Amino acid sequence: AKDIKIAPSILAADFANFGAEIEAVEAQGADWIHVDVMDGHFVPNITFGPDTCRAIRPHIKTVMDVHLMIAPVDPYIEAFAEAGADVITAHVEAGAHIHRTLQAIRGAGAKAGVALNPGTPAEAVAHLLDLTDLICVMTVNPGFGGQKFIPLEGKVARLREMIGDREVLIEIDGGVTPQTAPGLVKAGADVLVAGSAVFKGGSVADPAPYGANIKAI
Ligand code: DX5
Ligand code: ZN
Repeated sequence: AKDIKIAPSILAADFANFGAEIEAVEAQGADWIHVDVMDGHFVPNITFGPDTCRAIRPHIKTVMDVHLMIAPVDPYIEAFAEAGADVITAHVEAGAHIHRTLQAIRGAGAKAGVALNPGTPAEAVAHLLDLTDLICVMTVNPGFGGQKFIPLEGKVARLREMIGDREVLIEIDGGVTPQTAPGLVKAGADVLVAGSAVFKGGSVADPAPYGANIKAI
């Protein structure tokens, strides 16, 4: 079977206990840690920035996967790379010069990801396939955790076809649960981000919210 990576989103974790929350999900088998950066401009919510990434970095043994829901992106790439991001994903909708953004991410030493809002067609990344290491398909409109899944398996399958034999991962972000995951994997997903489904607002003292769900996804 294909090796599917689970990337818990700390957007659904206890913001006062990121270190412990991350260590708990990694102990339960998390493959990547997904970090949602929001600016109150590109999306209608505000989370945190490079300083928080730097602070949590020592608690992450796996991959720090930073999802930038910010505009502009370019002035902040270096800061997130220096803060220890392994993957930096920018939205195709966030600026006029996505080629430059992806080149700058690679230039800063990180893997370059490009994210697509639900309303953006797969074709928007047709000319970016050789500049990107990951395509993030948003299955909710970005800004908040715990939203209803938008079924976009057809778009995922189309992207898989477009990617061909290139080494580009498909990541799915939004409303991923044990129920929605199988269809996404079948359509060609490689990385599943999951916020609520993994953390469920549970406490670190109670391993059930992590353990029960993380590998069942
Ligand atoms: C949404 C974020 C997602 C979010 C997913 O804007 O990009 O990463 O945390 O949360 P769930 O899994 O609860 O939909
Ligand atoms: Zn995200």
